[in-house]
Amino acid sequence: MNDTFLKACRGEEVEYTPVWLMRQAGRYLPEYQAVRANIDFLTLCKNPKLAAEVTLQPVDILGVDAAILFSDILIPLEPMGMRLEFLDKEGPVLSEPVRSKSAVDKLIIPDIEEDLPFVLETIRILRKELEHKVPLIGFSGAPFTLATYMIEGGTSKNFLHTKKFMFQNSTVFRYLMEKLSDMVTAYLSAQIKAGAQAVQLFDTWAGILSPQDYRKFVLPFVKKIIADLKKEGVPVIYFVNDCAGIIKEVKKSNADVFGIDWRIDIGDAIKKIGKKGVVQGNLDPCALFLPKDKLEERVKDILWKGETARGHIFNLGHGILPQTPPENVIAMVEAVHTFGKKT
Ligand code: CP3
Repeated sequence: MNDTFLKACRGEEVEYTPVWLMRQAGRYLPEYQAVRANIDFLTLCKNPKLAAEVTLQPVDILGVDAAILFSDILIPLEPMGMRLEFLDKEGPVLSEPVRSKSAVDKLIIPDIEEDLPFVLETIRILRKELEHKVPLIGFSGAPFTLATYMIEGGTSKNFLHTKKFMFQNSTVFRYLMEKLSDMVTAYLSAQIKAGAQAVQLFDTWAGILSPQDYRKFVLPFVKKIIADLKKEGVPVIYFVNDCAGIIKEVKKSNADVFGIDWRIDIGDAIKKIGKKGVVQGNLDPCALFLPKDKLEERVKDILWKGETARGHIFNLGHGILPQTPPENVIAMVEAVHTFGKKT
């Protein structure tokens, strides 16, 4: 198996910088669209055979160094008791948002084996299929990002409901974060037991918080999840979108790998995280629309700066956009493999 990705996560010596992409399985791939033409997104997530098939598509098409389970961060919110829909134009919708103590009381901590068996089955299929290929990454939303979807009822612009809840009802907000953290730890432990070889926590919306609110309302929960997961013995990657303003706090989470977005220079991020850290990132997803020579310049710049960390895994700074031409993505992966050689 190509274990370059796992070695880089552990800060070990590698022959080249490994690369994978957030949202690497998805709508920019005609092969994904062909599967999705006959099935809606949620049903696809719950069908282990098809979910495994779309997970493998980018591994074969792009030649990336890791596979990421095909699912969604919102999937576990259904067995917690929420009604989830994905609407074509609006994205995810959670009816009856959680905005009171009684709503938090009603939330169930799911039994992963019983309530989310399809996720574990997809992982088991994938480990067999990936045996001679690349490692498999499992994932979960981080508690704050999941809380925003639960409280807002979907995506939001200014997260007013979330912040009002946090500021006006801080004890209940922490109670919600605690419940979500218990779920996340159980969910990721179950994924690891089923065969996930690394796990990533997605904190897409933590960057909307001031450093002091991040420190008060998010960090203690993430720190505990990461400490608990470290006992499972696989690398834990913590991706925080828009991390520049809170990076000193994010560092305190003790993640094995820090996933960073593109708004911060990766060299500066490494200085702030410290040279002992392992980083993942951070090409602007829109850079995939640049002409090839300009794209290569940016890839080289990130690779060169990545050398200053103990380990670097190349990735985008956030998910790939559906409009991205697959040939540009293939060119990017090739550029990382060519210019990221260590000898
Ligand atoms: O990375 C991968 O390839 C694995 C699969 C994956 C998906 N979502 C598939 C998906 C992963 C890791 C996610 C994570 C996710 N989901 C996040 C965190 C990362 C990020 O992007 O910030 C978030 C916030 C979500 C919630 C979510 N799911 C939204 C807001 C949307 C709608 C917007 C959109 O991109 O369509 C989704 C839908 C979704 N998740 C799709 C896919 C492939 C598109 C569904 C389709 O086929 O129509």
